[in-house]
Amino acid sequence: MGYEQDLIAKAQSRSAVMGVIGLGYVGLPLAVELAEAGYRVLGFDVTARVVEGINAGRSHVQDVPTERLGKLVKAGKISATTDLSRLREPDCIAICVPTPLSKTRDPDVSYISAATDSVAKTIRPGQVVILQSTTYPGTTREMLLPALERGGLKVGKDFFLAFSPERVDPGNPRFNTRNTPKIVGGVTPACTKVVTALYGPAIETLVGVSSPEAAELVKLLENTFRAVNIGLVNEMAIVCDKLGVDVWEVIEAANTKPFGFMKFTPGPGVGGHCIPLDPHYLAWKMRSLNYRTRFIELAGEINSEMPEYWVEKVVSALNDRGKAARGSTVLVLGVAYKKDIDDLRESPALDIIRLLERLGAKVQYHDPFIPELHEDGVALKSSPLTAETLRAADCVMIVTDHTTLDYAMVQRESRALVDTRHAVAGRPGAR
Ligand SMILES: NC(=O)c1ccc[n+]([C@@H]2O[C@H](COP(=O)([O-])OP(=O)(O)OC[C@H]3O[C@@H](n4cnc5c(N)ncnc54)[C@H](O)[C@@H]3O)[C@@H](O)[C@H]2O)c1
Repeated sequence: MGYEQDLIAKAQSRSAVMGVIGLGYVGLPLAVELAEAGYRVLGFDVTARVVEGINAGRSHVQDVPTERLGKLVKAGKISATTDLSRLREPDCIAICVPTPLSKTRDPDVSYISAATDSVAKTIRPGQVVILQSTTYPGTTREMLLPALERGGLKVGKDFFLAFSPERVDPGNPRFNTRNTPKIVGGVTPACTKVVTALYGPAIETLVGVSSPEAAELVKLLENTFRAVNIGLVNEMAIVCDKLGVDVWEVIEAANTKPFGFMKFTPGPGVGGHCIPLDPHYLAWKMRSLNYRTRFIELAGEINSEMPEYWVEKVVSALNDRGKAARGSTVLVLGVAYKKDIDDLRESPALDIIRLLERLGAKVQYHDPFIPELHEDGVALKSSPLTAETLRAADCVMIVTDHTTLDYAMVQRESRALVDTRHAVAGRPGAR
């Protein structure tokens, strides 16, 4: 029996051992789904704290309850290690390591490169490697393939390689790793077939595409689509503000059109590991081909200017009360990059706090998910949200609209309120 049939049989019997490199927001939920589907999962991470936590059955990822993980660890279905030489053990290895941007906003694929090197050192015939980290088109074929074939193994025959982008939306109560359709782009048709067979028991819908480049671009199209549409609706918010029209009324009314319109909402800018970063991967790749991706640049420009726009609203709200920003207390509500999650990465709240501090304002914040803030020069502790703290602030600013905040109290008790998310009823913006 060839490796292809062997792996498909191992998927059917769930006897394949599944490896996951990088046990963060993406890797841990995947490991849990694979284990619940019946596989034994071996997780790899370079961070000892992450590995120790998982082996003790403790989850550090909000979407994976400790109880759910604990059961799988206890049953021997999931274990984790920092020992990358054990990468020989799994039949299938999913790479879920970070892909940030460098200081100069260029792709930083050093984590993918390190993980690939680890796999290349131990690769054996019959293994499957799936890259899930978001990256520029060409990474799988240009970076992983030569490294994995270095020892003489042939892709599609001796081992299998695919790109399968991650679509997880942390905090989404409806869509998770299992019920979000997953794209698979193998280097050869056999690669797509084997990955589809292995992921089939854990993921409800798998969508094959003809190449890893197509799969890489699917992810970049999805996130560029969001970045551009958020940029458009943010510009529309500025337009409406200048015209004295309520942008939210316009959006809601437009959204009654049953076709040809998709609702996006304005806000303080974009955050998280994906929307502010991923389009730059594509822009960077295209620059190397002498093409400028204008939509990406423009959306990035507008979205990154939103913190300044909203800080100006605070300054103007304070001015209306005869106060200067310098010396005023501003209470920021919500600092996570989106509602109901504990992730601060690239959050526009950080820019807003820095801008306010630069103006001399005394900034406090409240976020039920983030008890302390230690980021690039910002060091604060979450204040309790009470009528007193609200009344004590010269201006309250809603940056992230967490569901559990008492917005009626916020509206009642704030002396001045700037609402970047339309979280309280009535007109948005300063009053
Ligand atoms: N977080 C999301 O919502 C999301 C959604 C879709 C796609 N993605 C993409 O998925 C990828 C992973 O993102 P994440 O949010 O899970 O990151 P994360 O930072 O939460 O987790 C990554 C983990 O990888 C580990 N790691 C780093 N280098 C390693 C190495 N060489 N070997 C083993 N472990 C290593 C880190 O210690 C960390 O625990 C990124 O490319 C990201 O763009 C993320």
